[in-house]
Amino acid sequence: MELKILTLNEINLAIKDEIASLLRRKPNAILGLATGSSPIGVYDELIKAYKAGDISFNEVTSFNLDEYFGLSGDHPQSYRYFMNTHLFDHVDILKSRTHVPSIDKNSEDYFETYDNKIKDHGGIDFQILGIGSNGHIAFNEPGTSFDSLTHIVDLKESTIKDNSRFFNSISEVPTKAVSMGLKSIMNAKQIVIIITGKNKANALKRLMSKEISTDFPASILHHHPKVTIYADQEAASLL
Ligand code: F6R
Repeated sequence: MELKILTLNEINLAIKDEIASLLRRKPNAILGLATGSSPIGVYDELIKAYKAGDISFNEVTSFNLDEYFGLSGDHPQSYRYFMNTHLFDHVDILKSRTHVPSIDKNSEDYFETYDNKIKDHGGIDFQILGIGSNGHIAFNEPGTSFDSLTHIVDLKESTIKDNSRFFNSISEVPTKAVSMGLKSIMNAKQIVIIITGKNKANALKRLMSKEISTDFPASILHHHPKVTIYADQEAASLL
């Protein structure tokens, strides 16, 4: 696991550059995408690169990590809506090739077949992750099995609280979600994890302690051969 400590701007540009060079090498790459505040700057840089004519998403397929339970794709807090507004609507990706896990049995992205679908596409080439203050990646909360595939999750109180900032009140935050599992994430060929801001300093410190435990789900990433942590000075302040 490699740790790069950069400014926020440098992090966004560096990850954009990694994706741009992947797309030049492999125009039909499979991207694993995250929502939340961490990847927004990367998506902004990707949109700029697309608009400048440097990259195209025309042959790209994407798989998102997770989705709230019970919010439709046009709900402003759904992760489908987030992806459309922060990236997909601004680039030439075909929406039919963008996938978000679903609880709907009739959906082609039904969670029970989501991992097989990713496998059928050849696996995720490049996975972007953020991290929760409790060490969650995707919605894999502490205690999640390292063998987990895409599954339904009961959100922990701390995550509901963290995410309530996006809703009018905490009572509106869904208490369940669908999430790729830790094994699903570990199947990606390359992973970058963005860890920025003072409120992530403890999480980065714990990750760097190298102790691998289901109490801190992101620690499984130590077993992956190709992970880069992109952190800023604030997140790295306790190292
Ligand atoms: C989102 C996701 C979550 C976030 C994490 C950090 O798809 O999988 O695990 O990455 O909650 O969220 P932010 O980036 O908002 O701090």
